[in-house]
Amino acid sequence: MSKSTTQALTPKADLDTHLARLRSIAREAMEAAYCPYSNLAVGAALLCGNGTIYRGCNVENASFGLTVCAERNAVFCAVAAGHLDFLAIAVVTSSADISRPCGACRQVIAEFSPKNAPITIISEAVGGDYVVETISQLLPDSFSLL
Ligand code: THU
Repeated sequence: MSKSTTQALTPKADLDTHLARLRSIAREAMEAAYCPYSNLAVGAALLCGNGTIYRGCNVENASFGLTVCAERNAVFCAVAAGHLDFLAIAVVTSSADISRPCGACRQVIAEFSPKNAPITIISEAVGGDYVVETISQLLPDSFSLL
């Protein structure tokens, strides 16, 4: 997925002002989901420290285990473009209920989350209900080799 925008960011205090935009871009990203097997569409929007936002959607496969989640597609896209500093990720699903990122995606997000500034995760249901948490809350005591 391609990046959607670049916007100068002053420090993490600005995060709140970006949450609505991030949620909106995640919802757009959800439209691109390739999910003929589960019919659960997921979109993600990842905010980098410099204000750039990367999108991801879930991409399923007939060989089910090859499916990649929206969150990981967004993170890998951003990393491939040279980003390692992330502030927040919004995740929207086509489900009526809020669902948080899966365990694999939590581990991947944790890889890039500084201990003193954990990445914010916004999990949103199709109707617009959402929760704001941190990766430390969703994956406490995460495995790390760094
Ligand atoms: N999925 C995500 O995109 N993110 C998650 O965190 C959990 C699950 C996708 C994978 C699959 O395409 C569909 O949702 C059903 O599991």
